[in-house]
Amino acid sequence: MSTHAKLTYEGKEYTLPVVEGTEGERAVDVSQLRQSSGLVALDPSFGNTAATESSITFIHGEEGILRYRGYPIEQVAERGRFTEVCYLLIYGERPSPEKLREFRKRLTYHTLLHEDMKKFFEGYPANAHPMAMLAAMFASLATFYPEESTAVDDNIARVIAKSKTIAAFAYKKSIGQPFMYPKNDLSWPANFLRMMFAVPSEPYEIPEVFEDALNLLLILHADHEQNCSTSTMRMVGSSEANLFASLSAAICALWGPRHGGANQRVIEMLEAIQEDGADLPGFLDKVKDKKSDVRLMGFGHRVYKNFDPRARILKRAADRIFNELGISDPLLELAKRLEETALEDPYFVERKLYPNVDFYSGLIYRAMGIPTSMFTVMFTLGRLPGWIAHWLEMKTDPSGYRIHRPRQIYAGPREREFDDRGTRHM
Ligand code: ACO
Repeated sequence: MSTHAKLTYEGKEYTLPVVEGTEGERAVDVSQLRQSSGLVALDPSFGNTAATESSITFIHGEEGILRYRGYPIEQVAERGRFTEVCYLLIYGERPSPEKLREFRKRLTYHTLLHEDMKKFFEGYPANAHPMAMLAAMFASLATFYPEESTAVDDNIARVIAKSKTIAAFAYKKSIGQPFMYPKNDLSWPANFLRMMFAVPSEPYEIPEVFEDALNLLLILHADHEQNCSTSTMRMVGSSEANLFASLSAAICALWGPRHGGANQRVIEMLEAIQEDGADLPGFLDKVKDKKSDVRLMGFGHRVYKNFDPRARILKRAADRIFNELGISDPLLELAKRLEETALEDPYFVERKLYPNVDFYSGLIYRAMGIPTSMFTVMFTLGRLPGWIAHWLEMKTDPSGYRIHRPRQIYAGPREREFDDRGTRHM
């Protein structure tokens, strides 16, 4: 491999180092280019820019490969439990049984919300979107738990433990039911399901199939390297904003329908197609019409150009879960037909558009009784360890980190005079 690339500009030659990752990916290091040549790199939306070197997650978009810390997602999804995956992503290695027990104990210890935080929920309108509540609650954690360098591990345990309590309380608020407190002999997913669906006066048994399904969904969402919300986490964290504020910003980034908000939009899209008589070619015509702003939600990905391995796992899981529950959902059948129809259509083939993680996840959440407005919250719960892992990787980088501050190419008016128009008192 050549260790350098050459750039010729205005008769001068500049030598740029080439960096190679452990999986053979190569990048031209342009960090010193401006100093030597006066040029900066222009890459709107960062489609061709590696923002960092990272050891957490590897994706090969053309081959549909996803690995957490080197472990293939298929194996982690089949054999892992969410808390172990949190530990793996954040601290770099799988924990010993002793370390895992200790980590679980810390998560348990931190599950409760400060009683004063409960009052915050009272102020929101009944129809408040739970993502708005989640973002506000995460930022509010900073008012209870000061960010000290010695408290990093405690704060990490706090956010993973409390996130499910905050999410379940947001749901209970939206349906006007009393909050259920955590019961800490349960696993992370079971504890969350109980806080969501139990009511104080009634016994509640957590269906094992739901606990396993949630475990799988959380694991599949746990990290996805430098996506929009994770880049936001790093960006905000680079200003030395605290962990809770950085997470709140990442939650807001995830909310958008091009990112985590897509899972809610997929179900809304399927329902609308169903209502319109399930005319799939007619719907795809609208998607392909460049004058319309209709997109096939749950399709397409910036990195995957072959298949998204998470979508494959979820499609199979959806079939298994629906079988185990002995239920059928016409929307699952519709989704499969929509996928088939789209994958035969040259528009999607030429653009390499395939189902992404959001295409089938919502159908499983639906089967579990989780309402559509909570889908992106579910994504958030899963993605927390990934955000934290990236934040910690940046914070503990032995070569340090600088504030993230891209440059721009200014394209506005040249200098002009701001003349006095006598409007000073208007
Ligand atoms: N439906 C219809 N056309 C699409 C779709 C789609 N879902 N996705 C991409 N395209 C088209 C674009 O219009 C564009 O066509 P053109 O070349 O004729 O202009 C081409 O495919 C390339 O698309 P881009 O928008 O440039 O791709 P980009 O990498 O910027 O966007 C994204 C990726 C945001 C995921 C996009 O595919 C999309 O909006 N998908 C639907 C929303 C969605 O499912 N988001 C979840 C992503 S996964 C995640 O965040 C968890």
